[in-house]
Amino acid sequence: MTVRFTGKKPSRRAFLKGTLASTAGVVAGAGAAKAAGPDPLITEKQDWAMSTGDGVDATPYGLPIKYEDDVIRRNVEWLTADTISSINFSPIHALDGTITPQGCAFERHHSGAIELRKEDFRLMINGLVDTPLVFTYEDLERFPRVNKTFFLECAANTGMEWAGAQLNGAQFTHGMIHNMEYSGVTLRTLLEEAGLNAAGDLKDKWVYVEGADASSNGRSIPMEKALDDCMIAFKANGEALRKEHGYPARLVVPGWEGNMWVKWIRRIEVTDAAVESREETSKYTDTLADGTSRKWTWVMDAKSVVTSPSPQSPIKHGKGPLVITGLAWSGRGAITRVDVSKDGGKTWETARLANPGQPMALTRFYLDTEWNGEEMFLQSRAMDETGYVQPTKAMLREVRGENSIYHNNCIQTWWVKADGEAENVEVS
Ligand code: MTE
Ligand code: CO
Repeated sequence: MTVRFTGKKPSRRAFLKGTLASTAGVVAGAGAAKAAGPDPLITEKQDWAMSTGDGVDATPYGLPIKYEDDVIRRNVEWLTADTISSINFSPIHALDGTITPQGCAFERHHSGAIELRKEDFRLMINGLVDTPLVFTYEDLERFPRVNKTFFLECAANTGMEWAGAQLNGAQFTHGMIHNMEYSGVTLRTLLEEAGLNAAGDLKDKWVYVEGADASSNGRSIPMEKALDDCMIAFKANGEALRKEHGYPARLVVPGWEGNMWVKWIRRIEVTDAAVESREETSKYTDTLADGTSRKWTWVMDAKSVVTSPSPQSPIKHGKGPLVITGLAWSGRGAITRVDVSKDGGKTWETARLANPGQPMALTRFYLDTEWNGEEMFLQSRAMDETGYVQPTKAMLREVRGENSIYHNNCIQTWWVKADGEAENVEVS
């Protein structure tokens, strides 16, 4: 097995130091677990039990406790010097379950996050409809409502990893993803309200959707998808959408690339052809090795990543019981199985899905295992209900070359060393 490293190979001295430090940790840890002596946290009275805590009026809207203040969005400075037309990443290495809190869910905007009041919100439906309509926010609230959970993955997620292992952490390699429960109305309901008879045969029709921000982020969506499962969402995880996620309403396009999920949505035009806007021609297409580009690559293929252990979430407890966990998802339906390898893909064990896979939503997996304290080359491999199996990086490069930025769904490898630290590497 050849291993390619993110940075420089650690020196033998650094390696030895790491091993010694971790051995000491294991001894101390094991001693504490066996309760060698009295533990003041059990035997002594504690400050927090000697007086009263905060009253219910102290926190009208709560933030995470200060001890969790490293569970935040991060950006990569060399990648995103401009913070307006920019991106940050969800701290997936530190989260569990499947729902991403809005407060740390990654953001991507092309011209900054705008502040739009509900009172100033207007959504127009025009083009090939019987009656062009304009909805206010209050109008939207009066249509039959649905609740659905979906992942949103930016097409550029893992985009920096095409040419080699580059960013050292699941947050940076895979954090352009979030998963929320949306409340809103279906796009079908609104299109039917405007009437689609004027559009004639819907088979070849499209909707062109745009946002109220300066970039407008216009995209064309085939009518079949628009009528199938798209939503205009105004709540996420039970509360109003945050400004950065498109308040007061955004488009939800389940399973399809994040760029199509137009935020601050203002207009939906029914057309008889795709507009071929900037966002669907020069951007969000993949240039192949021969210089031609793939067209209409909307669906996000099955993908997974081990979130812990990982470079930002090393093993600190030494050998023994270890929970390996991660996330899997597919734009084509539900995740049916996730396998985990500890030896760079030579052998695989099937992980436990925390809950049965939900179509086009994140699925949490666990491998409850014993760590023998030796290095591992950790990988995960997702399978979805269509039978699709997540490819290796080599397989993907074979088909797509190395010119792409978008749609990298390859298997990720973390080199977990004997001291529990982990690093982004490639194996072949
Ligand atoms: N919608 C508008 N109006 N403006 C934008 O810049 N960015 C798109 C999409 N919708 C964008 C937009 C991109 S590229 C992605 S990946 C998602 O929104 C990101 O959604 P989020 O910021 O809620 O994570
Ligand atoms: Co995007």
